[in-house]
Amino acid sequence: MDQDQAKIAGLARLEIPFFEPGLPEIVARNVREGRLGFASELRMATRGSEVIFITVGTPPLPGGGADTRAIFDVARAVAENLEGYTLVVQKSTAPVGTARAVWRAMKRWAPRNSQFDVGSNPEFLREGSAIETFMHPDRVVIGAETERAVETLKSIHDPLFLIETPIVVASLETAELIKYAANSFLATKISFINEIANLCEAVGADVQVVAKAIGMDRRIGPKFLHAGPGYGGSCFPKDTLALSSFARAAGVRTKIVDAAIAANEHQMHRMVSKVIDAIGAPRGKRAGILGLAFKPNTDDLREAPALKIIARLQRRGVKVTVFDPVSMPRARELPALRGVEFAADAYEAARGADALAIVTEWNEFRNLDLKRIARLMRHPILCDLRNIYGAHEVEAAGLRHVGVGRGRPAAPTPRRRRAAGGSPRG
Ligand code: UDX
Repeated sequence: MDQDQAKIAGLARLEIPFFEPGLPEIVARNVREGRLGFASELRMATRGSEVIFITVGTPPLPGGGADTRAIFDVARAVAENLEGYTLVVQKSTAPVGTARAVWRAMKRWAPRNSQFDVGSNPEFLREGSAIETFMHPDRVVIGAETERAVETLKSIHDPLFLIETPIVVASLETAELIKYAANSFLATKISFINEIANLCEAVGADVQVVAKAIGMDRRIGPKFLHAGPGYGGSCFPKDTLALSSFARAAGVRTKIVDAAIAANEHQMHRMVSKVIDAIGAPRGKRAGILGLAFKPNTDDLREAPALKIIARLQRRGVKVTVFDPVSMPRARELPALRGVEFAADAYEAARGADALAIVTEWNEFRNLDLKRIARLMRHPILCDLRNIYGAHEVEAAGLRHVGVGRGRPAAPTPRRRRAAGGSPRG
């Protein structure tokens, strides 16, 4: 159920309002087989439902907190329409304490003698691979405090449980905090490797190799150690700010998460400096930007590093041409991208540019004809902000290579010199 009637009408025609690989097929199949329907009236969705998931937006407030009004609006409507036992699952990402506050509020709103529980069931989906992360979750977190609520939520996840998905049962507050702690930890991991990348540039080391080697330590793990332009999207930026905000309200300072947030902002500034350093005096120059979405396989532009980088380049007088394989229709509607030229493909974005920056690592950018790119550009410089190419490959094609954290030793070490001289043993 959604109160946005246009969205519901679109879904009824099997039009998915965002890009997510595999989702249109799954929605169509489940509609066809009678397991999925769409409603624009709450009663149509709640009537006869044993479980109701609240999955509304919780946009950031000016102070960094999360706006939970939509959750309570829905909870009130649900409470007023309760019919038999109902488990209300708060799934929207909301500050710790929200689920219990929903339960208390529903007690006031619900008809006397009505039977219901409130649970929390945070989601850990990744955009672009949402189906895979849903079908094969690392864990399912169930925040529930009555046996009936726990059993109901477990049985819903049974098909996943059968393939040995660990289920973590916790109190409402613990379940809610797990979500924020997970996202803040991952964001911190990214900010950490970005900081190491900056250090690599200064001391002539290669962050790709550092990340690979530290990731081999199982206590660290190899994932989320890709240096780049900083994290974006609908979760990390919002959830780190919200955690910091509700922690402050609880009298706790979150110095590490705050530093991860600040480092992420700093990283985006650095990316702008990288491009400007590459092209020289910025006024009147042109930059090509490859990739707008905050990550590949989505058309989501929320908090996308590309948007911030473009805005700052434009402020410095740089003209910008962009290309993204999927998000261009959305991007054209953004006031923030007024004044940007939209290219038909990566090569058109490179034409006449003084620098070409890869900001999102779409697969189709991994296999570009670099020689052709070099010929098309006014000044052949590739700022590979996602480190998808090696310096040698780029330079062999006639482009200057700028990466993130790809420092090179100032001069060959003696050992290397010997190796280059042909001694097989080095
Ligand atoms: C994230 C969490 O991964 C997911 O568990 C949660 O439910 C929602 O938030 P999502 O925002 O879809 O998912 O994308 P994710 O793949 O985590 O990437 C977030 C951002 O971090 C992107 O901008 C990505 O480019 C960046 N990132 C990720 C890096 O810069 N380096 C990395 O190593 C990994």
